[in-house]
Amino acid sequence: MDITFAIITCSDTRDLAQDEAGAALEGLIAAAGWTCTDHAVVKDDAPAIADAIVRAVDELRVDIVLTCGGTGLSLRDVTPEATASVCERDVPGIAEAMRASSLLKTRRAMLSRARVMQRGRTLVINLPGSTKAATENWEAVADQLEHAVSMSRGGGHER
Ligand code: MTE
Repeated sequence: MDITFAIITCSDTRDLAQDEAGAALEGLIAAAGWTCTDHAVVKDDAPAIADAIVRAVDELRVDIVLTCGGTGLSLRDVTPEATASVCERDVPGIAEAMRASSLLKTRRAMLSRARVMQRGRTLVINLPGSTKAATENWEAVADQLEHAVSMSRGGGHER
């Protein structure tokens, strides 16, 4: 089953050419046999992040949006708030699984405020910004994404 993704990296300092974590996520998506249809970099700015999520869901109509970065405790880290501003439903178990798995690797995992939510039938997953952390968090949940998307597609809540 193909799954379509959009990657939105949230960073004040990176551009697309320097987005190593986003590139790693593209590689992980391809290695799983799925399709990344868009990869954008936006500033750590809540309206810009929210607009990018809305575009990925409503225009590109991807199954899953991966945000990368902006989940920590700096006041510039606003990705979870931007996500919540344009999504209706919380999917706490996926975020809990990422933190639980990550805590086995680093105690710093508790510093992630990442959320996972649904906008319509699309899953929006907040990942941390470093290549290592984004990869580890992806690996914590990737095996459940196919079932998650199957359920979302069959849910009758079309957008
Ligand atoms: N999760 C894993 N698996 N590995 C990591 O190295 N780093 C943590 C955490 N989650 C980390 C992790 C750290 S140090 C921070 S500050 C938070 O993710 C938030 O990262 P972000 O601000 O880049 O989103």
